[in-house]
Amino acid sequence: MKVMVVGGGGREHAIIKKLKENNSITEIFALPGNGGMAKDATIVPIGAKEIDKIVDFAVKNRIDYAVVAPDDPLVLGAVDALEAEGIPCFGPNAKAAIIEGSKVFSKNLMKKYNIPTAEYAVFCDMEAALNYLESAPIPTVIKADGLALGKGVIIAQTREEAKSAVRSMMEDKVFGASGDNIVIEEFLTGPEVSVLAFTDGVSLVPMVSSMDHKRAGDNDTGLNTGGMGTIAPNPYYTKDVADRCMKEIFIPTMEAMNKEGRTFSGCLYFGLMLTEKGPKVIEYNCRFGDPETQVVLPLLETDLLTVMQAVTKGELGSCKVRFKDENACCVIMASKGYPEKYDKGFEITYPEELADSIFVAGAAEKDGKLVTAGGRVLGVTAIGATLEDAIEASYNKVEQIHFDNAFYRKDIGARALKAKENK
Ligand code: AMP
Ligand code: GLY
Repeated sequence: MKVMVVGGGGREHAIIKKLKENNSITEIFALPGNGGMAKDATIVPIGAKEIDKIVDFAVKNRIDYAVVAPDDPLVLGAVDALEAEGIPCFGPNAKAAIIEGSKVFSKNLMKKYNIPTAEYAVFCDMEAALNYLESAPIPTVIKADGLALGKGVIIAQTREEAKSAVRSMMEDKVFGASGDNIVIEEFLTGPEVSVLAFTDGVSLVPMVSSMDHKRAGDNDTGLNTGGMGTIAPNPYYTKDVADRCMKEIFIPTMEAMNKEGRTFSGCLYFGLMLTEKGPKVIEYNCRFGDPETQVVLPLLETDLLTVMQAVTKGELGSCKVRFKDENACCVIMASKGYPEKYDKGFEITYPEELADSIFVAGAAEKDGKLVTAGGRVLGVTAIGATLEDAIEASYNKVEQIHFDNAFYRKDIGARALKAKENK
């Protein structure tokens, strides 16, 4: 069986490694993948947004199953285009991917179906938005409607900051058309939890919960990044919270999408905040999270391809999905300067026995060597019986991986450990 994975980061590497455990797969293609995946997949230099080329490649190479991992191609309709050629896919069609593609859509969906989320207002007119900010509670949160490389959310601590965020989105168009409409929403506080769920629109199976670490610096200081590390399970996500989320958020979201004629099939990502008034949705993603996937999939006991195919066929209900009763920690090693300017091209070295624990995001092959090629270079995952064990083991591995200008947070999982102590 020939499988194709669209995307090129650490998340895709984690998906590919997990898929490889299935012996019926003879070859995996990564489009575009990256040089660090070359041992696990055939790298095909087609960009994740080049939908026509992706479809063409799939048809010519008789691909049996496709996994579309990143938000952009999903929102652009990659799954629709592949399915039109008869290629079964894991991932939502464009109609369903709008749950991530438009914040205005997702906020209105939650309001219509009583799914708990922050209070908000939508604006298509800049003057009206600025006017609203004169009396809005501060801090406030400004969100561009469309996809913005994960940078479209600004938490404004002052009225002036809020106004300048609105101007940069609506007047200067820093996120292009994504800022034509904006959402201004209530600032919520509480621990954050990420929950990825398999769903085919009939059943929904939450995966093990996780915790991202978005800021670049230790103790959650510095700039927001794509994610500097993750742990799973998230200790804040207790059985009670999980039951409540299932009843108040997960199932209602699946049913709301069905009622809207936008049945979601694939991995639905719930970004949650556990507020004093209960769990609320911060954001939906129409895909696996990165770097959440790098801790969640290593804990998956069930064969990934089997689960994905069950989702595609609408048979998830008859598929038992099991997770190991262990803990995982992923530390991201980045290029110094990320998420701003950084240098690339430094050789990456590590002992061969670590290869299984490394998910490569930003690396390329040059003259037979692996060199850095991005801000987030790779993720290092370890599993342990306890969270402490997992954290210690992943940092042990990190110390054996070298490249010039490497930097990583030293405190991945520290907040989760504290939460455990306080229980
Ligand atoms: P996103 O880019 O949508 O993942 O949002 C980035 C981060 O902004 C989230 O992980 C939260 O930490 C924060 N955030 C988003 N919306 C809110 C909100 N309404 N209140 C407080 N923090 C928020
Ligand atoms: N880790 C957050 C995301 O994938 O958007």
